[in-house]
Formats: sequence, structure tokens, C-alpha cells
Amino acid sequence: MTAGVDPPPSLAELPPERWPRHIAIIMDGNGRWAERRGLPRMQGHERGVTSVRRVTEEAARLGAIGDLTLYCLSSENWKRPQAELDFLMRLLAQYMVDERPTIMDNNIRVSMLGRRAGLPDDVLAEVDKTIELSAANTGMRLNLAINYGGRAELTDAVARIAAEAADGALSPADVSEQVISDRLYTAGLPDPDLLIRTAGELRISNFLLWQVSYAEIWVTERCWPDFTEETLHHAIHDFARRERRYGGLNV
Ligand code: IPE
Ligand code: IPE
Ligand code: MG
Repeated sequence: MTAGVDPPPSLAELPPERWPRHIAIIMDGNGRWAERRGLPRMQGHERGVTSVRRVTEEAARLGAIGDLTLYCLSSENWKRPQAELDFLMRLLAQYMVDERPTIMDNNIRVSMLGRRAGLPDDVLAEVDKTIELSAANTGMRLNLAINYGGRAELTDAVARIAAEAADGALSPADVSEQVISDRLYTAGLPDPDLLIRTAGELRISNFLLWQVSYAEIWVTERCWPDFTEETLHHAIHDFARRERRYGGLNV
């Protein structure tokens, strides 16, 4: 937690029902942040880790946020140059090691969303260690979307449902929204209330396609390395003023 950064009074006074319970973030713009400063893209990714640390600690400290889901690597990011991918893998493994004290100090429970296949064994080993270490924590859940794709997730869920149907464990008439939700990587998590995207792009980029059906979207021009506690407060504050209707009427 950065010294001297307290929630603005408006946030401190938010009634409990106005808080987003689950915040999901598309952490974009690391490369642009670096390129604008004449730096290699990798430095943008490094600075992005600092933002991850800041935002995770602050979200946990705020107390009302039960889930923070961060898009770390998409299943489409494998299209990037090998040197960038190698760097990202090293950064990810290092992050998993370095963050353990912070995660434990803040009572955070870590989980991973995504396909394990395709990720290097050493990265998975560090991810697993952090997940195991934090498994008994009771505070905010930090869900790391790594090698995550919304379509891949739905494909995996459909394959599971088909297998259960073929085994006779599930009949087609029993397939419901709950049955589908229970077979996603996010089984057991509430849907995101607030979806934040940095660096100004107005797209979902294959993130949580099923789960964001009624999420409130908040986009900032700021690149991820410039995202601070204050930016998070701003997003939460704006969220609290939204009127959510879920297709109905507010009278
Ligand atoms: C987000 O930053 C991090 C990852 C996708 C891994 P980018 O690397 O996409 O940064 P831009 O969009 O090129 O600026
Ligand atoms: C989304 O950012 C993925 C992550 C933040 C991990 P991208 O940079 O991959 O998205 P596009 O390619 O601009 O849609
Ligand atoms: Mg990007």
C-alpha cells in the first residue's frame, strides 16, 4: 500500500450495496506505455507488475471487494514474438515468487483461470505453489487469467457437458445456465460487476465472454503501468453511480 493514499471521502461513504463485489480488469497498454517513452516493450510489462501489486493490495484493503480477476495472458497472446513471450513467462514466474509475502500479508486467496496446456512447467509450478500456499486464506480472491480465452473456456465447458451426457450423467433437458456456469473456469465465482479496461480500447478481447453479460464497463485512456489506487477509486466511484437494470425497469 502506497503511503498517504486514502480513499476519497465519497468512496469511504459508499453504502455496502453500491460496491462492486467482483472487479475484472483487462490490463492493457504496457507496450504503448513503453513505446511512448522510447523504451522497449518489456519495460512496460515490468512496470505493469508494479500496478498489479498496487491494485491488488488496494482492492484487498478496501474490504468490500470479494473477487479481483486480472487478465494476465490471453490464449491469443501466443501470436506475439517469441522473445516477448519468453519475457512474459519469466515475469509471470517471478511475480508468483515475489508476491507470496504480499498475498499472505493481505489474506488473499489466489486461483488461476485458463488452460494449463501450453504454459511452461516451471511457470505452472510457481503458480501452483502460490495457489496452495494461499488456499486457506479467507480474504479477497485474486483470480489470475493466464492463457485464458473466453471461447476456449466455453469450448471446454461444452466438451465436459457432452462427455457427461454421453456417460448418462446429464440429460440434455437438464442443461441450464447454472450447469454451464458450473463448468466454466470461474465455477463458484460471482459474475464480475465491474469490468475495467485500460489503454482506451473499446473491446472485450475474448475475456470472460459468458460472465460479463451484465457487467458495467469502465474504460480509461491510461495505460496499465499508470493505473494507480486513485484510478481504481475513480472506477469504483463511477460504478456506484450506475443504474443497473438487467433488462428490467427501474421504477
Ligand atoms: C497488456 O499490454 C499485457 C499483455 C497483453 C500481456 P500489451 O502488451 O497488450 O500492450 P499494448 O496493447 O501493445 O500497448
Ligand atoms: C488483452 O489485451 C489481453 C490481456 C490484457 C492479457 P490484448 O492487447 O491482447 O488485446 P487486443 O489484441 O488489443 O485485442
Ligand atoms: Mg494490448
